[in-house]
Amino acid sequence: MQISPSILSADFANLEAELRRIANADWAHVDVMDGHFVPNLTLGLPVVEALARVSPIPLDCHLMIEDPDRWAPRYAEAGGSSVTFHIEAAHDPRALARNLRALGARAGMAIKPGTSFAPYEELLPDLDMVLVMTVEPGFGGQSFMADQMPKVTQVREAVRRHGGEIWVQVDGGVSASTIEQCAEAGADVFVAGSAVYGAEDAAAAVDELRELAANHQY
Ligand code: DX5
Ligand code: ZN
Repeated sequence: MQISPSILSADFANLEAELRRIANADWAHVDVMDGHFVPNLTLGLPVVEALARVSPIPLDCHLMIEDPDRWAPRYAEAGGSSVTFHIEAAHDPRALARNLRALGARAGMAIKPGTSFAPYEELLPDLDMVLVMTVEPGFGGQSFMADQMPKVTQVREAVRRHGGEIWVQVDGGVSASTIEQCAEAGADVFVAGSAVYGAEDAAAAVDELRELAANHQY
């Protein structure tokens, strides 16, 4: 059970210090938005490079961008230990995933709430993680979509059939009150932005979330 706090809810004027607040987490989740694939704009390669230089934990880059075939490998080169592209934006997802792995990154595939997983199951051998979005991508602090839990279970079952170590991540509205149902549905990596950075003690929030998840394993 791994926790990946989203720095989207952190203080962007003090990112190095904000990373230190979550040094006990497994990953730092970095939301890259291009203003095209999603209506919001956040940060890009130069900031990821800078974060990789100072982060005490590996970077989990979630790319909400168009043309990931072209840009995602650059995030692996910039220091992203895990790089997740959206299937809705990818032209040749298998080649892209292989490319990311060849660069030494874990390859992740994200699916929006309205996208079904079944057509992409055949990509599993080339993936290290599937991200099931539990909000419409674009903004932090939105309400958790419990109706995505059957999809989480569907992905978990597919992963089990395939074997290998493929993680199932959830992202959006994950908090102490929603993480248990995510774990029960089969998720094992949990992104939490506002639930961690909105807490006075971010590290304690990370520990609490991890424990809640561990007590409700699929
Ligand atoms: C949404 C982002 C999420 C977001 C999560 O598009 O992908 O990572 O920061 O924030 P919370 O946990 O506040 O929903
Ligand atoms: Zn994200």
